[in-house]
Amino acid sequence: MKTAMVWGASGGIGSALVQRLVDEGWAVLSVARDPGTVTPLPSEVIEADVADPRSVRQAVARAGELVQEVDLWIYAVGDITSVKAEDMSPEDWERILAANLTGAYLAIHYSLPLLTAEAHMVFLGAVSERLRLPGLAAYASAKAGLEAFAEVLRKEQRPRRVTLVRPKAVQTPLWGKVPFSLPPGAMSPQDLAERVLQAIQDGHSGVLNL
Ligand SMILES: NC(=O)c1ccc[n+]([C@@H]2O[C@H](COP(=O)([O-])OP(=O)(O)OC[C@H]3O[C@@H](n4cnc5c(N)ncnc54)[C@H](OP(=O)(O)O)[C@@H]3O)[C@@H](O)[C@H]2O)c1
Repeated sequence: MKTAMVWGASGGIGSALVQRLVDEGWAVLSVARDPGTVTPLPSEVIEADVADPRSVRQAVARAGELVQEVDLWIYAVGDITSVKAEDMSPEDWERILAANLTGAYLAIHYSLPLLTAEAHMVFLGAVSERLRLPGLAAYASAKAGLEAFAEVLRKEQRPRRVTLVRPKAVQTPLWGKVPFSLPPGAMSPQDLAERVLQAIQDGHSGVLNL
C-alpha cells in the first residue's frame, strides 16, 4: 500500500483529494490546522499550523512515527483576502503569504527526509497572472512565488517529481472569503481531485493547468 500525505486536508480541495486517495486504497496522512474538521476516514490526522515553523516540524515528526516513508506529498493549504495594498495590514499580508508560500516551503523543507527517492510532490497554485487584480496583491504575489519555488524544487529534487497545479475556479469555501461570484462552470473539488490523481498516475511533472 502506498502512502500519501495531504496538507490542508480540511479544505474543499484537500478533503476531496484525501477522499479520492482513500477510495483508491492509499494510506493517507491528513494534516490540518484543526484535526476535528477533517471528515474523510480512514486517514490518520495530524495537527499543524503552517504559519508556525515549530508546528510544521512537529507534524512531520509525528508523521515519521506513523509511517516509514511517503510516496505522494500534496500541499493544498491556501488562504485569500481581497484588500487593496493601501489598506492591507501587515498581519493580513503575513497570513496570506504564510498559507500560500512560506508554509509550502516549511512543509516540504521538513518533509523531504520522509519522502521516497521517487516521491511525487504536488502544490496547489493558481493561474497567478490572471489574479493581478485590485485587492489580490498578497494572494497573487504568493501564488507567483509558489510557482517559482516549485520550479526550482523540481530541478533540485530530480528524479523526484514536482507538479504545480493551476486550477481554474473550484467550488470551495475559499470563495466565501472574497467579494467575487463563483464563475459559472466552476469545477467541483471531486472533479479536480480525479484529474490531479490521474495526472499523478500518468507520471506528470511540471505545471498542470486544469
Ligand atoms: N477554490 C478555487 O477556486 C481555487 C482555485 C485555484 C487555486 N486554489 C488553491 O487550492 C488550494 C486549496 O484551496 P480550497 O479551494 O480547497 O480552499 P479552502 O476550502 O478554503 O481550504 C484551504 C485550506 O487551507 C487551510 N489553511 C489555511 N491557512 C492555514 C494555516 N495557517 N495552517 C494550516 N492550514 C491552513 C485551511 O484550514 P482551516 O480549515 O483550518 O481554515 C483549509 O484546510 C489553495 O492553495 C487555493 O489557493 C483554489
